[in-house]
Parts: sequence; C-alpha cells; structure tokens
Amino acid sequence: GNGAPPLGVCPAGDLDRVRADGSEQRLTTNQGVPVADNQNSLKVGLRGPTAMEDFILREKITHFDHERIPERVVHARGSAAHGYFESYQDLSDLTRAAPFAAAGKRTPVFVRFSTVAGERGSADTVRDVRGFAVKFYTDEGNWDLVGNNIPVFFIQDAMKFPDLIHSVKPEPHNGIPQAASAHDTFWDFVTLMPESTHMLMWHLSDRAIPRSYRTMQGFGVHTFRLVNAQGASVFCKFHWQPVGGTHSLVWDEAAKIIGADPDFHRRDLWEAIEAGAYPEWELGLQIFTEEQAASFPFDVLDPTKIVPEELVPVQVVGKMTLNRNPDNFFAETEQVAFCTAHIVPGIDFTNDPLLQGRIHSYLDTQISRLGGANFHEIPINAPLAPVHNNQRDGMHRQAVHRGRVAYEPNSLGGGCPFQAGMAGFTTAFSQMPQPPEDKVRGKPELFADHYSQARLFWISQSPAEQAHIVNAYRFELSRVTVPAIRVRLLSMLANVDPILAEGVAQGLGMDVPPAMPLATDAPPPHYEPSPALSLLSR
Ligand code: HEM
Repeated sequence: GNGAPPLGVCPAGDLDRVRADGSEQRLTTNQGVPVADNQNSLKVGLRGPTAMEDFILREKITHFDHERIPERVVHARGSAAHGYFESYQDLSDLTRAAPFAAAGKRTPVFVRFSTVAGERGSADTVRDVRGFAVKFYTDEGNWDLVGNNIPVFFIQDAMKFPDLIHSVKPEPHNGIPQAASAHDTFWDFVTLMPESTHMLMWHLSDRAIPRSYRTMQGFGVHTFRLVNAQGASVFCKFHWQPVGGTHSLVWDEAAKIIGADPDFHRRDLWEAIEAGAYPEWELGLQIFTEEQAASFPFDVLDPTKIVPEELVPVQVVGKMTLNRNPDNFFAETEQVAFCTAHIVPGIDFTNDPLLQGRIHSYLDTQISRLGGANFHEIPINAPLAPVHNNQRDGMHRQAVHRGRVAYEPNSLGGGCPFQAGMAGFTTAFSQMPQPPEDKVRGKPELFADHYSQARLFWISQSPAEQAHIVNAYRFELSRVTVPAIRVRLLSMLANVDPILAEGVAQGLGMDVPPAMPLATDAPPPHYEPSPALSLLSR
C-alpha cells in the first residue's frame, strides 16, 4: 500500500527498458546491420592485406579499444548488490525523509562494498578500510549514504585527503602496492598526523580484515542532521548492524586467502545472494540535540571521534536486505556513482570539514570517471523519482527535451518545470539555517584531543583482540625502513596506553620513547553519560 514493489522484486532503476538479450537474435553492428561472418576480416585475396573498408572489423575493434574507463581514484575494488530498505516505524517526528515515512515502507537500494587503497583487480582480504555505500532510490530523489565499515576517519579536514591517499597508494617511483612491500610513505604521513591515532587503532584491529562483506558494520561516519516537516532538526549518526553479527578474519587466514582466492569477498557476496541467503543489516540511529552535543567532551563535527553509545544509545529503525545480484558488473557496479551531496528532504549536512570537502569531490571525480556531465542518466544512477529541470546538452545526453523554453522564470510555458519551493510543494529540499560566522582557516579546540577515544577503543577490546592489534603494529612497523618513523609511532602509542606501546616496542626490539607532546594544554576530557532522546517514548 506504500507504493513500494513486492518482496523479491528488484526495482532499482527502470532496468527492463535497457536490459539487452541477444538470444535467438541475428548478430548486428551497432547500427543494426546484420553481420554474415563474425570470424573472418575482409581481405584483398585470401592471403592479402585487410581492406580499410572493413567497417565491421573496424567498429568491433574500435569499441573494444575503448572498453576500459578509469578506475575510481579510491575504492576502485568493489562488489555490489540490489535490495531494499524497510522502515520499522514512522519517524516523521524526526525526519521527513521519505524512507522513514511509515512502518513497513520499502525503498529500493543499491549497495557497493569496497576496499580503499587497492586497484580494481586487487585482493579482497587485505588489511584496509571497507567502503559501505548505499544508494536509496527514494520517492523524493536519490539519497546516498556513502559510509565505511569503521566509524571514524584518519583526518579531520578535506584539505588533507589528497595527502593521505598519496601516502597510501603505490609509491610513485616504482608503483609497488604498499601491502606488498616496505611501506614507508603511509606510516611517515600518519605518524606526522596525530589526529589519525584513533583511526589507526581500528585500522590495526580485526575490524580491518572482515570475514565477509555480509559481516561488516557500516557507518555514516560524519554527524548528519535529520529535519522534520516543521523544520526542527536533530543531529544523527548512522549505523548499519549486520544481522548475522560482526565477524573478522585473523591475519594468518586473511594472508592465506589472498593467495588462494583473491576474490573471496566478491564471491561470498555473490554466492550468498544466488543461494537465497540474503544479507541483512539493521539501520541504527544515534539521535542527539545541539544542546547535548555542546555538552560532549569532543566535537561532533570532528570525524575522528565517535559518539560513545554510553552517551547516546543506538536505536534500531529499519532493516536492509540485499536480494539480487547485478545483471552486469560494468553497467551497475562499475558505473554506479555515489555522492555525499545526494541528500533528500529530511536529511542535511553538518559543518564537519571532512564532509564539506566530500560534497565537492564525488561529482567532480565522476565527471572524468564517467565521461561528462550526464552520468546521472545511466540507468543505475537514475532516480526513480521524476527529474525535471532546465539542464541541457553535454556529452551522451539521453533525454530528448521538447519545446523552446529551457530557462526559468518564463512566461512561454511549454514543458518547463517551476521551482518546488513555490506554494503547495512543502517537501522540497531546503538547507537548515545556520548562524553566520567570520571566515577563518583553523580548527576548534576540541579537535586537538587525539588520544582519549583511541584509548577508549583500546580498553574496549578483549585480550585476544588487543594481542592482534599489537601484532599488527609489530608486523606493519617492522616493514618500515626509516627508524625515525617507528620512533614517532611509538611515541604516539605512548599517549594511548603504556601496555600497547611497550608491546609494540618489544616486538620491534626498541624502547618506548617519550610520549608525543599533546596538541593542547587542556586536561583530558571526561566522559559522562547524558540522557539520550528516545525514539520510542517521544
Ligand atoms: C569513493 C573522495 C572521505 C567513503 C570516493 C571517491 C572519491 C572520494 C573521489 C571515488 C568516487 C568515484 O569515482 O565514484 C573522498 C574525499 C574524502 C573522502 C575527498 C575526504 C575529504 C571518505 C570518507 C568515507 C568515504 C570519510 C566514509 C565515510 C567512500 C566510499 C567510496 C568512496 C564508500 C566508494 C563509493 C563506491 O562504492 O563507488 N571517495 N572521500 N570517503 N568514498 Fe570517499
């Protein structure tokens, strides 16, 4: 009754229109000309040179020559599936976002999981962050929740992203991937960026070698806003919890699998869905007000910090089920374009300086990766919601607009849309108002606490998990060739926990050096639980 398609039917994109099936059909050129002989080129005599006029050969080879497109600059290696999100309840008090409008409401999704650093053909079970990108085809346009399987990030400001990625990608002189050799550059960079300490703890933990895409959590990472129809807003952190539980590999398993089956995660996801063992995640929200956020001992705009669940519990609001593999890897998994700028009425950004940079980056990179400004028309990217605007032309334009008016306002009419903020359209997107401030390059004071939450993560781990972290640091740092980098790392860890620092130092045959100077004189923040907003007792 909510307009969503029935269970098991995958509606993402109107794909039937573009599905191709050549069975029992004649082979043709791209111009629809029937081809009599697909084995032999046209020659001047059976043993002579090939004729320039063989347009059939030339078309076939030319198309082949252009089959490859650039891989993603990050997250190049990935696997994806279709499914749907079902809301457990009506959340319209909190947000007017269409997927949460009613209990039982279903919204189609397409989800791509990925590693970050490796190239398109790299192995699945490496130690790395995993991408967890969800495209919701909502009634009011596409909403992309472009998250990771770790709830924090290495850096606090988009300004540092190209530096981070240049440090982690193959070294430019020899192109050797860092997992396969000494990898000084990554450790050089992160030990000069103490804000990465918390993320490194997760990155060196079992979280960075998931058992399966099906057993990973996902996180929106940044603080977002939910906005209701009255314009009232709360802060929100998004969590995906795998219904089958969160499971990891141990390093020895992961290393063996890299050799035995480099496509381990891709195969696992595909086979589970083919077998009808549909992977499921529950969506959890942490909801808090601006006043609560102001009382926290960290800044909610800092993407190197979590909001501890002791402060704000995660409340489960719905479930996502992946129930259909793509028909075609290239058409769907490769050409899908996720973008943090894709939000819908009821969801809004915050001023997190990493998120703010991402809002620019995705559309920009996709213009070159997907060849021009019209990739939103590729079926996997096209919203189910209708698209009407005065954008025109560009490479590979599919839509055929009629009439002479492609501007607004106009008085000539003729198929031209009007802006939805006009009377009667209460669900149009509008940004939450924010008080103006002076322009400044810098960081808020609380961004300087780099160690409290790294310590929180360390003490949350079981002894076996702590041992895995120590071993991972020993292994990674033993392959760094520059001694000063190892010293810097140990002096970072000395600020996290003495047992951790000592354990890693012993493995490297070193003494723990003095702790890295703190970036702030403020005393370490104190974590005090505060009352959470309950979704159920509103
Ligand atoms: C992919 C930029 C931080 C999650 C990408 C891509 C770019 C990019 C250029 C390739 C997109 C494409 O070619 O389609 C950035 C920048 C960041 C940033 C500039 C920081 C300033 C993050 C963070 C997360 C994240 C913090 C997680 C919360 C992802 C995911 C993908 C991706 C999941 C893969 C999407 C897919 O599966 O196609 N990012 N990123 N990124 N990024 Fe980021």
